[in-house]
Amino acid sequence: MCGELRLADAGKKVVLMGWVNRRRDLGQIIFVDLRDRSGVTQVVFNHELNTAVHQKAEVLRNEFVIAATGTVKKRDHDTVNTNIPTGEVELVVDELRILNVSKPLPFLPSDTVLANEEMRLKYRYIDLRRDVMQHNIELRHKVALAIREDLSGRGFYEIETPFMTRSTPEGARDYLVPSRVQPGSFYALPQSPQLFKQILMISGFDKYFQIVRCFRDEDLRADRQPEFTQIDLEMSYPQPEQVWETVEGFLTAAFKAAGHEIKTPFMRMDYDEAIRKYGIDKPDLRVPAFTDVADCFSAEDLETLAINKDLPVIAIRIPNVGELSRKERDDIKPLFVSKGGARVFEDFKRIEGKFPDGAAKVRAKAEAAAEDLLVLVVGSRQVTGGEAHPASKRKVTPAELAIYASAGILRVALAQKYSDRHKLFQKGDYRFLWVTNFPMFEYDEGEKRWMAAHHPFTSPHDEDMDKLESDPAMVRALAYDVVLNGTELGSGSIRIHRQDVQSRIFHALGMNDAEARARFGFFLEALEYGTPPHGGIALGLDRIVMILAGADSLREVIPFPKTAAAKDLMMEAPTPVTDAQLRDLGIGILRK
Ligand code: AMO
Repeated sequence: MCGELRLADAGKKVVLMGWVNRRRDLGQIIFVDLRDRSGVTQVVFNHELNTAVHQKAEVLRNEFVIAATGTVKKRDHDTVNTNIPTGEVELVVDELRILNVSKPLPFLPSDTVLANEEMRLKYRYIDLRRDVMQHNIELRHKVALAIREDLSGRGFYEIETPFMTRSTPEGARDYLVPSRVQPGSFYALPQSPQLFKQILMISGFDKYFQIVRCFRDEDLRADRQPEFTQIDLEMSYPQPEQVWETVEGFLTAAFKAAGHEIKTPFMRMDYDEAIRKYGIDKPDLRVPAFTDVADCFSAEDLETLAINKDLPVIAIRIPNVGELSRKERDDIKPLFVSKGGARVFEDFKRIEGKFPDGAAKVRAKAEAAAEDLLVLVVGSRQVTGGEAHPASKRKVTPAELAIYASAGILRVALAQKYSDRHKLFQKGDYRFLWVTNFPMFEYDEGEKRWMAAHHPFTSPHDEDMDKLESDPAMVRALAYDVVLNGTELGSGSIRIHRQDVQSRIFHALGMNDAEARARFGFFLEALEYGTPPHGGIALGLDRIVMILAGADSLREVIPFPKTAAAKDLMMEAPTPVTDAQLRDLGIGILRK
């Protein structure tokens, strides 16, 4: 292959096949960098040595596909290219076959400046020829294979579950597939194989996994695609720790396949602690936690600054940012998303000027050096503790949560903005974390009802069962997330395995018996036939590979991704279909 020849091969007669990556015509000599997925070799067409072949080579252009037969030659000392593994040799060609030609391309795989993303996606097959994309897709293969082997070694069976399944909307919207033989009825593409994998435990398979495509019609972002791949697993009789060990095991194998060693067991943190320290349930541990500095100021100081003394005063510290100009300080304001009336003091210098004692205490408590950026996020005085709402009985009240959440968003934004200065984001620095003890329910203000924070099949803590009806906000779930450097890699839980408990949860979610039976009757029934306790998790394969590839979008690690508008620009999907197809399906389209 084009990346394989070395000095030891000098003198050998070989055939290389690949693409013309670059061509330099020096008149008497034509050099071509010939490329396949393994790399490039310089091939040489020399007029003096072989006039016919040299002439034939004159028509070669970028991305022509050729077969070149010749002899491997040691390069002269001054022409050795130390940038490529084959740089000590070249192939002197004595036979050339042009296997195919190429039109002039919209962009070249060898271009150093990237084409715009629309072009890249429209001509994805050219984009995928680029080194980086070849590497990312190879990485994806290796990571998936390592995970598969590891799980199989732990006694998990890979079992396929259907793609044409039943619509049970909860969470994102379903992608629907109309049935032709049952006009008016629809299959749904699975958002995850959740119920199937639980049923596989009821079916006696004990340990299941699947590297499986999932489909969700939701708003897309850099880390979300409408179809994406999960490493999905379920096991019977586990404690959460056994699920965590399994995940730590296959992640160790996956990272090893990518050349990285990771340390296990991962750190563990309660959801409430994550919120208090980071304002988010997927904290990036590379950046310092918040400090609550409410006790650093006197009551008069707080009064003068119009700060609510009953709410946390959060100091966000970003190391080594250095002195900010006035303009830079102004640039912080738009990064701030105020929830529940939270306010930001982005000019700590001013506070130091007016309240030197308090500010000195803040610096000490937050362990801030002179060159560290300090920003305060505080509650406004109008906001009270939020006693009216039932969720106020949680350890973190809604008013506090609003401050923490506002500070959490700003902390992440500042860490990103100043990553060049604080240099905390080093390649290969992987800080894994288990976030545990999530609340079971979240109150949806829009719908005025409790929603499942993870999903409705998650088991509450045994000791919180008595609060299911009386105090849903206080019920903790046996749910856990695995987080890496601020990205949620995966989510899972111990499941409900008793029909009566499952029915109570549906009730708590505002579903009456009839509704629950209509949507999940098959599952409630299955639970009644000897269901073992079980639990599991699913991780996003795309996200893991994205982080390992050092990419900032899933599109860089998915061969044929969709745009933010959920379009495939190469195939031009989705498309309208013919009237005949619609008639077959009994579907009419409403046109605005
Ligand atoms: P959840 O919905 O949290 O849990 O999904 C698990 C993981 O899948 C990945 N993921 C996505 N990746 C790319 N694009 C998306 N649109 C997308 N949505 C989710 C994330 C996420 O952490 N059935 C449960 C798991 C369980 O309880 O076992 C589930 O699907 O990395």
